Amino acid sequence: MSSSESDREDEPISPWLSPMCGLSAGTCLPDRPMTDDEKRKRQIEAYRLIKEKSTPELMYHKIQDLLEVKELERYRDNYAYVSVGIKYKLEIRNVHTNKIANYTPVCDYDTVSRAFERKTQSLQDSEQFTQLKATLASAAVPSGINKIVAFACCTMTGEANAIQTSHSMGQHSLVVALRAFLASRGGTAAPGENRSEIRCYAQDPIYTSIDKQVLRDVGITVVDDPKGFLEVDEASVVFCSYPNIPIRQIVADLARPALIIWNGVVREDNGLGACDPESSRVWQMMEEYIELPFPFDGKYGLDGKLAMYVRKSG
Ligand SMILES: C[S@@+](CC[C@H](N)C(=O)[O-])C[C@H]1O[C@@H](n2cnc3c(N)ncnc32)[C@H](O)[C@@H]1O
Repeated sequence: MSSSESDREDEPISPWLSPMCGLSAGTCLPDRPMTDDEKRKRQIEAYRLIKEKSTPELMYHKIQDLLEVKELERYRDNYAYVSVGIKYKLEIRNVHTNKIANYTPVCDYDTVSRAFERKTQSLQDSEQFTQLKATLASAAVPSGINKIVAFACCTMTGEANAIQTSHSMGQHSLVVALRAFLASRGGTAAPGENRSEIRCYAQDPIYTSIDKQVLRDVGITVVDDPKGFLEVDEASVVFCSYPNIPIRQIVADLARPALIIWNGVVREDNGLGACDPESSRVWQMMEEYIELPFPFDGKYGLDGKLAMYVRKSG
């Protein structure tokens, strides 16, 4: 059996709840307030690990995995030189409702929506965004940009004060602010064009139904993996920060986006363990780009190691 959207519930479940827990239902509640430890145990008891496979997901192998000798042993015959495979995640199902529970705590729609609105307003009014606009206004940004594709921006529905939630809000806010700026410049429309619409897509398998709703409200369409990659072309902006998959290697094989904001290419070996390491093709691709200052030095979840690149003209 595979899980579908309707199987899911927006029920908070702590990220520490490991699928390795031995789960059984039905212990009695004590006749006094439960200790934190008891509450945790109780929560575990409400769930059981589902043994069946979840919906299949794509698994991207970075070039380093394919080339490394040890990995070649593993990938030999069936997998050698195959950069995309299939994986199945184990999921947790509530024994009482039989629904699959989310792994992360989920804030409600109103909380997320209001916090996101505040974050976007604050970013749009920030000194850093003013600098970014000035940089783009004076740079030779290719004309005809008509979409922004954002990868791996994570969920905004985690605990309200968690760093990851705040980073996710900041990164989605940048997408919204950037779209407004590019649209105000006529979408950097090509000569003779009158196009100001900039479509926005976001791809991250972690999105909850609340993320999708909040993003839809601001005109960002959430797409399933790998549809975000299919949107990446010469007329797009790509945004990505610390993904779990080799986004830069994938994009380098697909297209040359007009504008890119992602982890700065440092021309050093990032180590085979890194999720999004560079490669000779990434380095080759970046020779076609000019690096521009990216003013967010850790503010709004935009790490100082991110960099902005504009495709060279001609
Ligand atoms: C380390 S987190 C980074 C989150 C955030 N961008 C940041 O800078 O803090 C990696 C993110 O990559 C996402 N991810 C994993 N597989 C992905 C895929 N196939 N497409 C897009 N995002 C993916 C994860 O769900 C997670 O949100």
